[in-house]
Amino acid sequence: MTLFKRFSDRRTTLRKLYGANVEGVKEAITVVGGGYVGLITSACFARLGHQVFCLEIDHARAEALQDDRLPIKEPGLAEVWERGRAAGLLKVTRSYREAMKQSGFVFLAVGTPAKANGAVDLRQVISAVRSAATATNGDSPVIVLKSTVPPGTAELVADVWREYHPDDEPRVVSNPEFLREGQAVFDFMRPARIVVGADERETAELVGALYEKLRRPVVYTSTRAAEMIKYASNAFLCTKVSFINELAALCEEIGVDVVDVSEALGMDPRIGSSYLGAGLGWGGSCLPKDIGGLIWSASRMGVHTPVLSAAVKINKRQIRLAAARLESLIGDLNGKTIAVWGLAFKANCDDIRESPALALVRLLGEYGCKVRAYDPVAMDESARLYPEVEYCAGPYEAATGADAIVLATAWSQFGSLDFDRLRTLVQRPLILDGRNFLDGEAATDAGFIYVGIGRAVAGPDFEPGNRDVLPHLQPARRRVRTRSA
Ligand SMILES: NC(=O)c1ccc[n+]([C@@H]2O[C@H](COP(=O)([O-])OP(=O)(O)OC[C@H]3O[C@@H](n4cnc5c(N)ncnc54)[C@H](O)[C@@H]3O)[C@@H](O)[C@H]2O)c1
Repeated sequence: MTLFKRFSDRRTTLRKLYGANVEGVKEAITVVGGGYVGLITSACFARLGHQVFCLEIDHARAEALQDDRLPIKEPGLAEVWERGRAAGLLKVTRSYREAMKQSGFVFLAVGTPAKANGAVDLRQVISAVRSAATATNGDSPVIVLKSTVPPGTAELVADVWREYHPDDEPRVVSNPEFLREGQAVFDFMRPARIVVGADERETAELVGALYEKLRRPVVYTSTRAAEMIKYASNAFLCTKVSFINELAALCEEIGVDVVDVSEALGMDPRIGSSYLGAGLGWGGSCLPKDIGGLIWSASRMGVHTPVLSAAVKINKRQIRLAAARLESLIGDLNGKTIAVWGLAFKANCDDIRESPALALVRLLGEYGCKVRAYDPVAMDESARLYPEVEYCAGPYEAATGADAIVLATAWSQFGSLDFDRLRTLVQRPLILDGRNFLDGEAATDAGFIYVGIGRAVAGPDFEPGNRDVLPHLQPARRRVRTRSA
């Protein structure tokens, strides 16, 4: 029954596009790119019952995928992937010809990295379109841009396609992805909305129909608007975090706990509570490059974007402020041992691209610190970039002999540590909570000095007479509250 419904649904939508005779119409979806978005898209589309080709050009990566060795760790991905493979719905290939022969849709999920000047590097997109166009004979597929691209890219893609198929009127759709790493499968299956931009409604609906089973709202719009929505969304999130981080610096000066401020602020439905936690700032593979791409696109149009530029500036400053705060507490950082808990750009994923944690590691290294780091999943990749760091088997080992502990990524396991045990391991009992995540009260009860971002220093005077440590500790011990994860 389910199988029948699947095909009857698909045939209804296909009929809309191709008319009554849908026999021979290519049903499969090719997802170009076996990276973060490509893997989630491939596995989840297969979960929705579609026949999927995951097309990856990188030889080693494709081989690993063919052997079902997933290069990324993402909750639920292994299960959905396995299920799709077992059902015969999910194939991995390096061959455009094999994939294009059977596919009615080509989803481009390739990288769109930033160039040094902030411009978006579209070479992977263009190269994928050329390969798909070369491999296509007969009916052209619907080309769907999942990658995040500047407004106008869908039109560029159509132009490239026409170079190979001058008689075609290519159907290019923008269907940006909003998933969050760490909960990517959940986000794909339960999106707040699905944005589909196309020049003709019929093509847009065809893509919208691929998501029919999710029963989520679909926003139909133009390709340019869809591309802009994605940029606007990420730029807004960056701005929101930078806004609270700017206030955090002020809160520290005036003796107000920023956690109290953001909690109450977020209760206002006009504002909302997400992305309102002060900390070391935003990072990852998307937010920095997307806000940069938007600023660059605007500047090309002669439009100033001072709010966006300020958001970027504040974000860069966060790391320097954190180091300065450490310095104000333990003096010259040169030669000090700092334990860094967490390296991934956020919890529940192993992605270290543009990770604030690593930016801090880098800066501490420049100050002459010895860094001992621990992350549950991101150490191998970090070790390739920062071999000078001492990677430890766990948070306790990392803290051993440390002059300060910095929590840089809010992994849940850091929320249930034994501070009494930690107290016996460290050189100095100082914790800088870069995510306002820890139970500060438990830390101070165990004798730690606890410092959050945008919060007063709390804890006992652990080294009487040490003027490097004491200036901020003069007020009586304060109770600190901890934000939930
Ligand atoms: N990572 C995220 O959380 C996220 C979320 C939403 C949107 N996005 C956007 O999605 C896009 C992809 O991001 P990602 O993180 O998955 O990138 P990624 O770098 O992890 O993956 C890209 C993959 O595409 C492959 N590839 C490149 N050119 C190819 C080609 N011509 N043919 C076949 N394969 C090719 C690469 O080898 C790589 O495996 C980007 O535009 C990104 O901005 C990412």
